[in-house]
Amino acid sequence: MKICIVGASGKLGQYMVRHALDRGHEVVGVCRERSVGKLAALADRITIVPGQTNDRDVIRRAVAGCDGVLTVLVPWGVRQYSSGTAKAVLDHAEPDARLVFSCGWHISRDGQDRYSWLFRTGLRVATWLTKALRLVEIDDQVLACRTIFDSDRRWTVVRGSDLEEGESQGLPVWSEHVGDPVLASNMTRRIDFALFMVEALTDDTLIGQVPAIVGRGTPSALAHAGGSGQGPAGDQVS
Ligand SMILES: NC(=O)c1ccc[n+]([C@@H]2O[C@H](COP(=O)([O-])OP(=O)(O)OC[C@H]3O[C@@H](n4cnc5c(N)ncnc54)[C@H](OP(=O)(O)O)[C@@H]3O)[C@@H](O)[C@H]2O)c1
Repeated sequence: MKICIVGASGKLGQYMVRHALDRGHEVVGVCRERSVGKLAALADRITIVPGQTNDRDVIRRAVAGCDGVLTVLVPWGVRQYSSGTAKAVLDHAEPDARLVFSCGWHISRDGQDRYSWLFRTGLRVATWLTKALRLVEIDDQVLACRTIFDSDRRWTVVRGSDLEEGESQGLPVWSEHVGDPVLASNMTRRIDFALFMVEALTDDTLIGQVPAIVGRGTPSALAHAGGSGQGPAGDQVS
């Protein structure tokens, strides 16, 4: 496949680039001009399109001819960065392209996710505080996802738990709703979040889904697998 990775220079983005290259995909990466150097080690293997990810012209050029687009949705600043990025990808990607977006557990499509009091309070405070400081616009990531859910594109929105670095544990397991017991450990290795994003490109059962993922080596995932941790990679376990 020829794929575009929007936000390629970040931590998640760089892992996605490596997984994609390992699978033999041709990769076009979008990242801010100032971050091009972060991709130096991969520069001879990918095409880099420098620019802001919400710049429609940058995205239009980057996604042209791509079979899939992996987008890191981040709500930096108070300038509709997430929703602008999502709209640019939805508007300019090829008609049949697989579109996979990343976000966190706080996104809910059907309102059936069950969050702890602590999570809800922390989110409310973080949303208010980071916006007041003009750092981050969490509610714009919510708007971005609403726009994706309403589109008729071949999309998947992957909802990441808390993230950590470390060696791969394999493809994360997933569930439809936050609050499902298998997700209780709330931890995924960033390298495996990236793996799930790349695998989703070729997994049509994930079209129109909002999987909430958790590391397959975490206690809650292992408990669900009867302590063995075995089973088909990327299992849906709800
Ligand atoms: N962090 C978590 O614990 C967590 C938990 C659940 C889900 N997620 C989701 O995982 C994805 C990746 O998150 P991450 O925390 O691992 O971050 P990350 O991979 O390091 O990505 C951060 C992205 O934001 C860009 N960025 C940083 N500062 C920016 C600015 N001022 N203006 C515009 N872009 C800027 C970075 O680009 P440059 O390379 O140009 O700086 C990079 O592409 C996101 O979709 C997030 O919602 C994260």
